[in-house]
Amino acid sequence: MTFDVDAIRKQFPILGRAVHGKPLVYFDNAASAQKPDSVIDAMAGAMRHSYANVHRGLHTLANETTQAYEAAREAVRALINAGSAEEIVFTKGGTEAVNIVAGGVGASIRPGDEIVLSIMEHHSNIVPWHFLRERKGAVLKWVETLADGSLDMESLARQLGPKTRMLALTHMSNVLGTVPDVKTAIAMAHGVGAQVLLDGCQAVVNLSVDVRDLDADFYVGTGHKLYGPTGIGFLYGKRDVLEALPPFEGGGEMIETVGRDGVTYNSPPHRFEAGTPPILEAIGLGAAIGWLQAQDRQAIHTHKQTLLTRATDALRGVNGLTVHGTAPGKGPVLAFSIKGAHPHDLAQILDRQGVAIRAGHHCTQPLMSHLGVGATARASFALYNTVEEVDTFVVALSKARLMLS
Ligand SMILES: Cc1ncc(COP(=O)(O)O)c(C=O)c1O
Repeated sequence: MTFDVDAIRKQFPILGRAVHGKPLVYFDNAASAQKPDSVIDAMAGAMRHSYANVHRGLHTLANETTQAYEAAREAVRALINAGSAEEIVFTKGGTEAVNIVAGGVGASIRPGDEIVLSIMEHHSNIVPWHFLRERKGAVLKWVETLADGSLDMESLARQLGPKTRMLALTHMSNVLGTVPDVKTAIAMAHGVGAQVLLDGCQAVVNLSVDVRDLDADFYVGTGHKLYGPTGIGFLYGKRDVLEALPPFEGGGEMIETVGRDGVTYNSPPHRFEAGTPPILEAIGLGAAIGWLQAQDRQAIHTHKQTLLTRATDALRGVNGLTVHGTAPGKGPVLAFSIKGAHPHDLAQILDRQGVAIRAGHHCTQPLMSHLGVGATARASFALYNTVEEVDTFVVALSKARLMLS
């Protein structure tokens, strides 16, 4: 299989539009990716031809929709090589998935129990653990990064201990692009009796993930970065780990029996899917995964690395510019600061030239403090981006620098 970026681009209708009269260059993929026709068609097709509520119906449309919904669960299972589709819980995004785990684990947290996090976590893998600090007396312990943005494994070893209940770690930083050695980190955490949650919201798009090989207890992903819709994500949990986790939200579907004096809960994954789930979004995610898996993922990886290297090399020569995150094997995310130029101004000037980048703290304030900045600019690359777009971005950036100097 060869990788034909033009053929890929034709499948993403939005890429044909102009912004401020210029062809769109969309480099905000780490925030959210664009959607191919197959995802748009799958969702529209379900609404046009085969839609009903799932699981409780005895009629044809309910059965068809349930089959499509469960097929999407199987697609997620295959994507991360989980052992069983019952280990996959649909959520409304990555954030909700972490909250389900933190909320469930929180039920048995005692004052002084420790949660170990890295300083490059996204707020969605920090704030739910802060809740346990505020409400349960848990202690948050932070793992540092090295100068190139790698995870400091010595710092990790120092922070893990007999009181560690959970290691909550990113599988790919949304700012530095760092891909920590999570397999070693998981073995280290298991060595002290802790569980591990990996935030795979970026990784699952860019790496091939095998939760069984990694031995992760929990793995979190989100649909909208995976060329799928918003409003859908997933939580993987090992079967016995999910079985032991109390439910997060109460309502229909997650129960076995409800009486005046008590309630018993359904088994996973339904225990964690209270109410009518995001059915159309799950179908869209299933279509996105099916579409992605049909591509040559190794060729996609090589293509994105080519874009990253070309952009990084071009930016390295720019006076006063700092690239944040240069760890070996990093993902296609390029965060940078330019002396004297506010990232927001850069992003706005680039937008006038049709180039969409992100500027801000990227929901990683502890990392921003560590880097000594309030915000950075960030370009992030997807499989539909091109070398020519990287060159357009570099020219647009030098114009922006001139305007701001
Ligand atoms: C690393 C990382 N984790 C978690 C999230 C949150 O995912 P969601 O937007 O699906 O809640 C994001 C999204 O920006 C992210 O980049």
